[in-house]
Order: sequence, then structure tokens, then C-alpha cells
Amino acid sequence: MSEPTAVNRYESASAWREVDSYFVDALDLEDEALVAARESGSRTTMPNAEVAANQGALLAMLVQIAGARRVLELGTLAGYSTIWFARAVGEGGHVVSLELEPRNAEIAAQNLERAGVSERVEILVGPAADSAQQLVEAGVEPFDLVFIDADKPSNPRYLAAALALTRAGAVIVVDNVVRDGAVVRADSGDARVEGVRAVVEDIANHPDLDATALQTVGLKGWDGFLIARRR
Ligand code: DHB
Ligand code: MG
Repeated sequence: MSEPTAVNRYESASAWREVDSYFVDALDLEDEALVAARESGSRTTMPNAEVAANQGALLAMLVQIAGARRVLELGTLAGYSTIWFARAVGEGGHVVSLELEPRNAEIAAQNLERAGVSERVEILVGPAADSAQQLVEAGVEPFDLVFIDADKPSNPRYLAAALALTRAGAVIVVDNVVRDGAVVRADSGDARVEGVRAVVEDIANHPDLDATALQTVGLKGWDGFLIARRR
């Protein structure tokens, strides 16, 4: 098979976006609070990094299929996926979201308030590995689902934290595992790609984890999710 030309690569990306937009509109996936949270992402330290609406809906569906009541998220940013999780766990559910940057956490807090889910969400500000360690030391109730979506070089440490904070049967989702296909390059020299490959290896070698990974295309370009489950 030949390499795609620059022109058809562009056309593909544009078609992917159009299809995502079609489903997001046709399925009416975003309300005003989600739109506002998405738009506020431009004020965070990492604009446009939030999941697409149809991806947020997938995460929410995983929560509901798994019957998860307690969700741990690493990487809050503006709280876009946090809103999806908070709505999915329902009243009585709880979401803990870990965010490095105080400014992002403040923006997220406003978005959660607007979405009416503040009382089920706790944002812990600081390095996610430190906050996770504090949760371990505090002996918090185990989480049912963990979403790893913070700095990619730390993915292996975040997996270890997720394992320390979950029960058998828990689901662990890792975002951004494809990175425009760069994941296949063992010699990328990119610490983010290395973080993905290292966590994939750790998951593969863990005796109690089943896992798969799926590529996604759409509004977020070409990327993917890894989904693991503790036996
Ligand atoms: C990056 C991180 C994300 O969580 C994301 O969804 C997209 C990109 C990044 O580090 O480049
Ligand atoms: Mg992400």
C-alpha cells in the first residue's frame, strides 16, 4: 500500500471531523454546560486536550456498564471529562480528579458548578502521583474506574497508583495511546510515546489485567484509548 498523499491525509482528517460532528449533533451529546466547559479549555495550560463529546459519552457509558460509583481521574484540565464522569456515577456517586495546575483546577471548579455536579466531585491540586499517594495513605474506599489522562511520561507511575487504589473488577482507561501512530516507534525519543509504550508493557506483564487498545479518529485527530480490567 502506498503512503497517503498530503492531500488525501487532509481530506481524511476533515472527513473524520465531519463524521464526529454528525454523531455529536445527531445524538445531541452536549448540553450548554459541556459546551461551556469545552470552550473554557482554551484558558487552561493545555487547550484542546479534552476528549471529544462522543468520547466523553463512551467514558460515561463504560462507567454505567461497569456499574462504577467511584471514579478516579488523573488530569482534570477544565473538567470536561470530569463532568461526563460525574453525571455517569449519578447521585451518591463520587469522582476524585487530580490536577497539577491550580489555574486549571479553578476553571474546572467553575465548570462543575455550572454542570450542577460540584457536590460529587473532589479536585485535588498538585502532582497526580503525590495526590494519589495521599489517597493510598488515607485508606480511601477503592475506586471502580480510573481514567489516566495526565502527563504521558508518568503513565507507568499512574498505573501503579491505579492498581493501589482499585478493587478486583475495576476498569482502567488510558487516554492518548496512539499519538498519530507514533506509539509504534520504539526509538521515537519522545518521552510521551515512551510513557505510553512503558505502560502498555506494564499492563501486558501484569498477571491480573486484561486489556485491549483501540485507535480513534475524529475531532481529536488520530489517537486512541487503552482499556484494562482487573481480574
Ligand atoms: C495530549 C494530552 C492529552 O491528554 C490529550 O487528550 C491530547 C494531547 C498531549 O500531551 O499532547
Ligand atoms: Mg487526553
